Amino acid sequence: MSRFINCLQGKKKLSPFWFMRQAGRYLPEYREIRSRQKDFLSFCYSPEAAKEVTMQPLRRFDMDAAILFSDILVIPDALGQPLRYEDGQGPLLEAISTQAEIDRLDESRIEKHLAPVFEAVHLIRNELTKDKALIGFAGAPWTVACYMIEGKGSKDFAQVRKLAYADEAAFQSLVDKLVRCTVTYLSKQIEAGADAVQMFDSWAGILPEGEFAKWVIKPTQQIIQGVKARYPHIPFIAFPRGASLLLHSFLDACKTDAMGLDTSVPMSWAKEQFSKRTVLQGNLDPLLIASDKQKAVDETKRLLELMQDTAFIFNLGHGFIPQTPIENVQAVSETIIGYRG
Ligand code: CP3
Repeated sequence: MSRFINCLQGKKKLSPFWFMRQAGRYLPEYREIRSRQKDFLSFCYSPEAAKEVTMQPLRRFDMDAAILFSDILVIPDALGQPLRYEDGQGPLLEAISTQAEIDRLDESRIEKHLAPVFEAVHLIRNELTKDKALIGFAGAPWTVACYMIEGKGSKDFAQVRKLAYADEAAFQSLVDKLVRCTVTYLSKQIEAGADAVQMFDSWAGILPEGEFAKWVIKPTQQIIQGVKARYPHIPFIAFPRGASLLLHSFLDACKTDAMGLDTSVPMSWAKEQFSKRTVLQGNLDPLLIASDKQKAVDETKRLLELMQDTAFIFNLGHGFIPQTPIENVQAVSETIIGYRG
């Protein structure tokens, strides 16, 4: 059994670690494979290449878990919404906004279209040793819908927030569709070999209380229930980024095995509030590790010290930025491993 899964089952003093976006452009070996791909989406659908970049960070830093290399937007792609990734601009989709456009999204394509992702999971699990866990993942319906309606990244996702008010029935039908697809998608990853799953709700923090209940809490509850009905022993990690004061109602409603905390949440507060009910994961600032090795190491020690008597998974508060120096990641990783004694 891996240190990571043991910790998710509540065992203390293990300090497993992994980092969001641990596979990515800060690694030269990633950039090398990336430069040989036709485009980012076909990279995501190349099982051998996806396996290779998933394994890369573990070879350097010996994390306790690998996270599948893929993207949250393969779901809209599988549903038939045109998607491409432009260098420097992030994802670009043909934005949708009407009930008719939502109805045209074809759920029956999911399993077949995403078969290469499940194949990658299978290849990765075969290559990983037993002491390393494989994390499967999906985007949460709210965050995926943000990109589907807006068509691209945004500071405030005003279009999707307006649609959710102006045509709630249409928006609800999109979220319901994404809930069903996500349960299927995560279940298939588990069948292919994922040992745990994480759901990224990167834009959970932009909603007021009532909307948060409808578009973040309820779909998360439904997905956890759907996946747990089939795979009760597979740990589920929720990451409602930016939820801040609403983390309480989130955790009251969603029976998640672990909760990821973003950079803005004081870990001492989270420990006091939540650590009896769930495993906490987080939350070193990715900009600190990108900027100052010594300060990042000091903050790593502080977090480990604070959480030593708690079931805690060391991670970042959000993903690595491409400018992160490898030696800083090395220093933080060695600090965590050294702390175990
Ligand atoms: O190592 C890992 O964390 C696993 C792989 C992973 C990627 N994306 C690969 C990726 C994961 C878990 C994601 C999740 C994801 N994708 C999220 C949720 C987490 C978060 O960051 O908030 C979101 C919102 C997306 C959508 C997305 N994909 C954006 C906004 C971008 C562009 C931003 C950027 O960094 O360029 C992507 C592209 C993307 N996904 C890259 C990687 C490694 C970079 C693209 C490249 O290599 O050209």
